[in-house]
Amino acid sequence: MNLHIFDTAEQIAVAVGNMMIEQLNEKPESVMGFATGASPVPTYKYLIKCFNEGKVSFKDMTTFNLDEYCDLPVEDKNSYFTFMHENLFNHIDVKEENVNFLNGNAEDSEAECVRYDNLIDEKKIDVQLLGIGQNGHIGFNEPADKFTKGSFKVQLTQSTIDANSIYFDENPMPHYALTMGTVSIMKSKKIILIATGASKADAIYGLVNGEITPNCPASILQVHPDVHIFMDKAAAAKL
Ligand code: PGA
Repeated sequence: MNLHIFDTAEQIAVAVGNMMIEQLNEKPESVMGFATGASPVPTYKYLIKCFNEGKVSFKDMTTFNLDEYCDLPVEDKNSYFTFMHENLFNHIDVKEENVNFLNGNAEDSEAECVRYDNLIDEKKIDVQLLGIGQNGHIGFNEPADKFTKGSFKVQLTQSTIDANSIYFDENPMPHYALTMGTVSIMKSKKIILIATGASKADAIYGLVNGEITPNCPASILQVHPDVHIFMDKAAAAKL
């Protein structure tokens, strides 16, 4: 594992953004896995800035997002589809037909997950960006008895509901989501995880130094050959 510790979230954004830009400039048709949540937002701002300065193009990129809420209209302000468009896709030259999401409103969620996994296996993710939950989740792979495999429908834990319900002021937060599974994430050629703030310190300890256990799903990343963890000092405090 490659550990990178910075003072500020902005410094992390520049370092992660430059790693992604290098990938896209070397291979414009890269397949990029994106994440939602607060952690990657500064990186997305930096990518937009670099796009506006002509330093990178996304026109041949294919994207996959990690997860999507169930039973939330795609146009809802809290859907991850809306999040990604507002925070990145609407501001760059990615082609909409190359943007892939799990459909959290699919009638047959199992068939939807198979469709998504088959597409990921066909395209192969070059770089997967991740956040980490306070409980060690990656995507919406919550602590459990076993590591998950492919994409699946998950019941969110109270820790995740508490962390994310701050965004839901009108409608209650969904309690289910579709997520890429742990094995799907591990198939990505390179993984970049961002963690900032003291609330992530325990999860980062579990990820880097803990036993590899589905109780801390991120700990599986210890056996991936090309992982970069970008942290601020508060998130790295227990290492
Ligand atoms: P956050 O979420 O970036 O909003 O902290 C990360 C996650 O839950 O994976």
